[in-house]
Amino acid sequence: MTSLRSLTRASTLPFTSFRFSPLAYLYRPHSTSSAAPQCPPDASQPSNPLPKSSSLNINTHKQNPSFYAAISHILTLRQKYIRDRALFIEGKTLAPLLLQLGANPTDLQTLPHINNTNTSDPTLPFRKSRNARFSLNTTTRTATRLEHQPFTLSTTEDFIRHDSDTIRHFDEVAPALQTNSIFQALLLFKTLMIHGVHTTPRPGLNYTSHAGHWVCTLFALRTVTTPSLLGEPALEGVHADGVDHTMTTFLKADNMARGSAATFLHEMDEETGIELGRISPGYVRGWAAHAAFLDTLLLVDHEVKHSLSAVRAVDAGKEAYRDMLIFFTRRPALGAHVSGAIDSLRPHRTMPMEVQLFVP
Ligand SMILES: [Fe+2]
Repeated sequence: MTSLRSLTRASTLPFTSFRFSPLAYLYRPHSTSSAAPQCPPDASQPSNPLPKSSSLNINTHKQNPSFYAAISHILTLRQKYIRDRALFIEGKTLAPLLLQLGANPTDLQTLPHINNTNTSDPTLPFRKSRNARFSLNTTTRTATRLEHQPFTLSTTEDFIRHDSDTIRHFDEVAPALQTNSIFQALLLFKTLMIHGVHTTPRPGLNYTSHAGHWVCTLFALRTVTTPSLLGEPALEGVHADGVDHTMTTFLKADNMARGSAATFLHEMDEETGIELGRISPGYVRGWAAHAAFLDTLLLVDHEVKHSLSAVRAVDAGKEAYRDMLIFFTRRPALGAHVSGAIDSLRPHRTMPMEVQLFVP
């Protein structure tokens, strides 16, 4: 795999040389502990039986004032997102909001471990992956799982990597994720955050006839660092994700050094594809490090580029990993778009899901 970047480049990151702009609000202070915090026990194990989950049903919560308190809080966050074009929300803030929207507290125990069954990534040796596609429809007010499709990102979308423009085939996410009401509430949260937010349009996307329709490609990703392989959450360096809104949510980590796998936001003038060690500090808008369950970053993908540092191990002699959910959301692709032929809006036939959304 000679086309991969140096496996040691992250050791020389210029953390102290960044000059933060006002958008450094994204900075998340680190504790003195070097390891990521513990997440809830793995409820999928026989020794930890939990009550059965139930799907998010906002109709059973819409008579509750706390539901609207959550909506109000989220809309306040949305105002900050509109102003700053990026927002970091800590898990300890987001979790109560998801519960107020109607999610089942039981599902807080199971979601962190959802990536335990991930499989080999089609192009990256240090990653275990799955994906799924969802429709977020603000006209019908439903979130629906869409049929499986392959995936690609192109150089024209500010994504330069050895597998740019390659059609990649990921294994599908199992139903355990889409039936988790915390995950469903995350779909609702993202819909509330992006609905009606004007962004710089991307070429080849349909912003007119499908105005209420969002395609959300969900990636369940585990990035693994071993004594012989450095896990790179963004091997592509400075890049964009080819969508309108990117949301990244932390699930759990093991043996991962706190402060590693940090996300850096860059002005659009930064060169696409360069390594984090070669970036221009003057173009850095801020950075954030996901460290706790449900820590979430949302950004306007066609207005802010991003990059990530590597997953570094606390104990370099052992494997370390970082589990994330990545929500790529954009308008449907037109026929000439690189994804135009792999952007079906048909529901998934064998793993259907439909959840009602609340749209103010
Ligand atoms: Fe990305």
